[in-house]
Amino acid sequence: QELQGHVSIILLGATGDLARKYLWQGLFQLYLDEAGKGHSFSFHGAALTAPTEGQQLMDKALETLSCHQDMALDHCTELKDQFLQLSHYRQLKTAEDYQALSRDIEAQVQQEGLREAGRIFYFSVPPFAYADIARNINSSCRPGPGTWLRVVLEKPFGHDHDSAQQLATELGSFFREEEMYRVDHYLGKQAVAQILPFRDQNRKAFDHLWSRHHVERVEIILKETVDAEGRTSFYEEYGVIRDVLQNHLTEILTLVAMELPYNVSDTGAVLRHKLQAFQALRGLRKGSAVVGQYQAYGEQVRRELQKPDSFQSLTPTFAGVLVHIDNVRWEGVPFVLMSGKALDERVGYVRVLFRNQAYCAQSERHWAAGQSQCLPRQVVFYIGHGDLGSPAVLVSRNLPRPTLPSDSWKEVEGRPGLRLFGCPLSDFYAYSPVRERDAYSILISHIFHGRKDSFITTENLLASWHFWTPLLDSLAREAPRHYPGGAKNEHLLDFEFSGSQLSFSQQQLEQLVPGPGA
Ligand code: BG6
Repeated sequence: QELQGHVSIILLGATGDLARKYLWQGLFQLYLDEAGKGHSFSFHGAALTAPTEGQQLMDKALETLSCHQDMALDHCTELKDQFLQLSHYRQLKTAEDYQALSRDIEAQVQQEGLREAGRIFYFSVPPFAYADIARNINSSCRPGPGTWLRVVLEKPFGHDHDSAQQLATELGSFFREEEMYRVDHYLGKQAVAQILPFRDQNRKAFDHLWSRHHVERVEIILKETVDAEGRTSFYEEYGVIRDVLQNHLTEILTLVAMELPYNVSDTGAVLRHKLQAFQALRGLRKGSAVVGQYQAYGEQVRRELQKPDSFQSLTPTFAGVLVHIDNVRWEGVPFVLMSGKALDERVGYVRVLFRNQAYCAQSERHWAAGQSQCLPRQVVFYIGHGDLGSPAVLVSRNLPRPTLPSDSWKEVEGRPGLRLFGCPLSDFYAYSPVRERDAYSILISHIFHGRKDSFITTENLLASWHFWTPLLDSLAREAPRHYPGGAKNEHLLDFEFSGSQLSFSQQQLEQLVPGPGA
């Protein structure tokens, strides 16, 4: 096939943790998917490290690249060799380094006799480095007319509304909105990326059920067994609400709650509808949240950050928050967002639980004769880990049978004896991806194809911070209750919670969010 143009991908922070774990593999996957489909590529790993040492570190990161098991070994090796030949390290430190990069790209494009399609700069660096890099790209590395520039940014995007606004204004002085791709890697998780398509493809069967008339509550949960050891310098400043709830869980909430646009491929409409969902979130009060800290956290902070023995950290490592949405569709429906470190299990899921009695009669039509009890009716987007191990979409069999895209999701039978969310797996229509893919490889593909709906716009980011900042401010001087590491929910949530304004008690929350195996 004739080549349409050259794409240069510059990975800043090419030897760092994220790059080693996910980004190089994501770029290699892009190459596997796109090579021979109309573009030529060059991959530039960049960092501040001097060239020889940087190249060595990068080579190490590239050693672990792998192909999907379906691919023949020979073919994989051939493509891997090609990818390595296209990948080079360069030190990017000074304005001259950026100018030289741009000249080299232009020379390569000329040599290939192609036109340039565009440049992607992936910022896998801490936010304090953003401004310098952005200035250099803007002044020296913009590709010529008729081409595109995409810059990819990783969280944290600020610490509260004002700092996020400041960072956004600064970036906005270098890049246009359509050039910025802010990553929330949860939007690349297969089960999360399926929420809108599921709602769209099953409009007829599910859209009328997807509201306060039928939904009892929605749970959006990310439980982790790891703790913050080794990361306390970051974690102490952020805590679980900024680290997980403000971004991953709120993004998921908006995908569940937003009004479906007429056409879900219309990126602008998706982003506008998401923004409307953010804007309908009812302001949080202190009483809407339960926060905790695992017992060993304080000691880890004192040790790692060399704090005196008297230092008491107030950073929450667990939060359960009750969110309400003030619109016609969702008024009165509790959305429970919960995440924590050092918990009893690692699992992530979104669970839409329907009221049982509301359509028992109606659902009987969908339920095999003889089994027509009113069991829990639920739709679960199972993000991963936990008892199931892999991503899945689960729909109770007493709900309509859903349609999922058959090229990417297959119906599966669960392990005998496995129970999830109060039911044997056989009670669900259960689907899992035909091919499991890492979130970053999905997002990198979306960046390449200019699909902005899987990224965070400035407006949506600020709307989310606007929602969370008052709660964060009100919790700033509150000591979270301690919970033992590896705690089961019942220990974790057995707090005394002061204030008569609680909109839900711990006991209620406990009932609301039992683990999936319960
Ligand atoms: C990150 C948080 O964004 O998400 C981490 O900073 C958290 O604290 C991680 O552990 C969870 O992501 P995943 O993909 O490992 O479930």
